[in-house]
Amino acid sequence: MPVIVLVGAQWGDEGKGKATDLLGDRLDYVVKFNGGNNAGHTVVIEGEKYALHLLPSGILSPGVVPVIGNGVVIDLNVLFQEIDGLESRGIDTSRLRISANAHVIPSYNRSLDKVSERYLGARRIGTTGRGIGPTYADKMNRVGVRVQDLFDESILRQKVEAALSFKNQVLSKIYNRQAVKVDEVVNELLSYVERLRPYVGDTALELSEALDEGKVVLCEAGQATLLDVDHGTYPFVTSSNATAGGACTGSGIPPTRIDRVVAVLKAFTSRVGEGPFPTELHDKFGDHLREVGQEYGTTTGRPRRIGWLDLVMARYAQRINGVTDFVLTKLDNYDDLDEIPVCVAYEVNGVRHDEMPISQTDFHHAIPIFETMPGWKQSIMGARSFDDLPKEAQDFVVFVEERIRARISVVGVGPARDQVIERHSVLSGA
Ligand code: IMP
Repeated sequence: MPVIVLVGAQWGDEGKGKATDLLGDRLDYVVKFNGGNNAGHTVVIEGEKYALHLLPSGILSPGVVPVIGNGVVIDLNVLFQEIDGLESRGIDTSRLRISANAHVIPSYNRSLDKVSERYLGARRIGTTGRGIGPTYADKMNRVGVRVQDLFDESILRQKVEAALSFKNQVLSKIYNRQAVKVDEVVNELLSYVERLRPYVGDTALELSEALDEGKVVLCEAGQATLLDVDHGTYPFVTSSNATAGGACTGSGIPPTRIDRVVAVLKAFTSRVGEGPFPTELHDKFGDHLREVGQEYGTTTGRPRRIGWLDLVMARYAQRINGVTDFVLTKLDNYDDLDEIPVCVAYEVNGVRHDEMPISQTDFHHAIPIFETMPGWKQSIMGARSFDDLPKEAQDFVVFVEERIRARISVVGVGPARDQVIERHSVLSGA
């Protein structure tokens, strides 16, 4: 039975919830395979609003086993705050599974994330300040602390000592901060051990067995394609692999078991943090789309940068992820516009680029080439089938679809769960 990978096609906040809502009752497992509490999604169920940063969205569906894979970095304080918050509202979280190989975010990495951003000044990345980058750096440097280390106090102490012997020099001598005490870090981490124990296991094995039994598994990416550390707009990226390949390395599910790759593409573009953004708007259209789309960060509350839809980027996302199905979200946000410019290519130093330029310098200098589609000037929020859409909105969807090398299977026409048009099943390919 299928493994479906769900990714964002742009710089995040594309509305992945639309796709998970749609798949909801067809799923047995939902796996988070990258990132940490830098993500954020708000889920509304029966009028109740739940803001999740770390837990996979499957935690809210009683029939689903939510899994935090080995590719995730976990802030244990946030984990238990979210668990407690849900439990106090009557949500059972006991199904949660956590990989013993996932890394934890020790408090010193949150401090380092914040002070290093301040130190970078104008060259900052605009991180969420959650300690994500330093924790992935520790993983690669082989000085990280894994979930399994918490169950062996002497190993834990050795690892924290090794990490701090270097980091304390950096904190005190470069950033002029107080050195961190090994005991404080070890004791804080140990304070979670007994609560953590029942959730922890060999999740790669559990997922493999589940697939053998014919279960349906969704691997849900945090962040998005252009924030991927390898394939995104480096260095203005997150520190993990948010593309489809990351689903394998971050969960232990092999590539040969993946059946579908679904990418969520917002009808316009947004970005939080720094970095190049060819179609960015600094005018009333940007302000309008920010307001109608309520484009403010779920994790940090920052107003998002807004731009027109960029099909060079969408084509790139299709290619890098091997997208089989797109979910086009927030089409209704265009309801009031007379016309809608769509970026179909870039011009860099007088040369047309139909694919992403290979160098970041060129990407910085990319000038969008637009084609303009007529608007429909009416609400499409009540549409439930493609035929319900006005002709101009249908044309817009077809125009985009013809340029992104994969079908648009689902169109989002409003924030509520049922405000979708399902053109094809993303599960079957039919
Ligand atoms: P970090 O992930 O906190 O290291 O931040 C690195 C970059 O990724 C920054 O530009 C963040 O704004 C961006 N980022 C991280 N998580 C998200 C997300 O869930 N949505 C959108 N942008 C994100």
